[in-house]
Amino acid sequence: MNNDQLKADNAQYLWHPMAHPGAMKKSTPDIIAKGEGCWIWDVDGHKMLDGVGGLWACNLGHSNKPVRDAIVAQMDELPFYNVFRGTTHVRAIELSKRLVQMMEPEGVATVMFSTGGSDAVEGALKVARQYWKLKGQADRFKFISLRQGYHGVHFGGMSVNGNTNFRRAYEPLLPGCFHVDTPWAYHNPYTDDPIRLGEICAEMLEREIVFQGPDTVAAFIAEPVQGAGGVIVPPPNYWPLVRQICDKYGVLLIADEVVTGFGRSGEMFGTRLWGVNADMWCLAKGISSGYIPLGATAINRRIAEVFDADTTGAASVSHGYTYSAHPIAAAAALATLDQIEALDIPGHAARVGEHLQTRLRKLVDTCAFVGDVRGVGLMLGIEMVSDKAKRTPMTRTSDIPARVAKAAYKAGLMVRISGPNLILSPPLIITREQVDLMCDVLEGAFAAVQEGRA
Ligand SMILES: Cc1ncc(COP(=O)(O)O)c(C=O)c1O
Repeated sequence: MNNDQLKADNAQYLWHPMAHPGAMKKSTPDIIAKGEGCWIWDVDGHKMLDGVGGLWACNLGHSNKPVRDAIVAQMDELPFYNVFRGTTHVRAIELSKRLVQMMEPEGVATVMFSTGGSDAVEGALKVARQYWKLKGQADRFKFISLRQGYHGVHFGGMSVNGNTNFRRAYEPLLPGCFHVDTPWAYHNPYTDDPIRLGEICAEMLEREIVFQGPDTVAAFIAEPVQGAGGVIVPPPNYWPLVRQICDKYGVLLIADEVVTGFGRSGEMFGTRLWGVNADMWCLAKGISSGYIPLGATAINRRIAEVFDADTTGAASVSHGYTYSAHPIAAAAALATLDQIEALDIPGHAARVGEHLQTRLRKLVDTCAFVGDVRGVGLMLGIEMVSDKAKRTPMTRTSDIPARVAKAAYKAGLMVRISGPNLILSPPLIITREQVDLMCDVLEGAFAAVQEGRA
């Protein structure tokens, strides 16, 4: 099939997530045809560094052989079986044991598998409600979350999402979901002192819990570092304070680690970045290097013990998907975890990530429309502004973010634009030389747009 036909077929037959179908018909998305290591090629043969990592997912790059071999071997051994009540399979057992052992410092006791990040979140929210029912506190059904947070697209996750753009078309959503301010250094009306900001935002959470009635709040859910919201890194005191507040009122703490899990932040898990344990962790993406859909909700002892102790039947988990713990996904995950540990992926992400952050932070000084560059490890956001002094983010009507992305694409780097933010989340195996190449391309792209050459 020729490329023009592919583009026409895409426009005619395919609805894209998070996109207007009409816009996708007018302007064909980039069609990616091949991947190898940190490189991708589009259907026209144009070669680029993958600054997106698939979608925060292909942490081992696009051609990891051990993961590929594990998938092929599993296809030959057992392509599919379910883990509902009456059956299980070897790879699911191995993977659950492996994850629990990996998360031993976190006090994780058990794992519930699913097929992606939204599923992992939905599982955590449902387990939180069921936990409180089992404890005889059925009034504890409310969830509190952060503005700008992203927790996927199921009704529960959407209800705790902190971006109204993702919610409005599907409202009314789940009752009992409330949002408090994110400790966002660049955009907040309170203070320029990050530590004070951490305290203020933690106090807001506490006030909301008290206002709702602590005995009505099931859980607080947040990302250790907000990803899709624009790579927002909280101050170091925020999560420890959140943990204290949750403990004070008995509220469960759910860490949505769909992006941060398995090394992206420079730590194996984002909660380790803050020295805090959650009660549940939502995992996906990097767990299988994105090669096959897989999600997991890791559950700590406090929760698991309550389910184990039930003798009434009420602890039966009425939740699960046909493809929960799909054997091929579990095999891919086992091989991925081997690679993550053997290659010290979190340590590598921390080291090359620091270089990436240091180089690109200079854009704030050199580019008239870059307001903020923020991130940690190999997750980085560049916020474009229409007024630097007032920190006014560029609106959707500005063509500048798209022009920067296009210039980068032409020069050999795939990036992602989300609102006013350019987001980078390359494979975690990226080398320092490739990071330099990525920075060279981006500096050139911003300069070209600023000078009207692109
Ligand atoms: C923090 C977070 N939670 C949940 C999700 C949803 O994951 P999925 O798209 O695999 O359903 C995402 C997706 O990007 C995410 O970033």
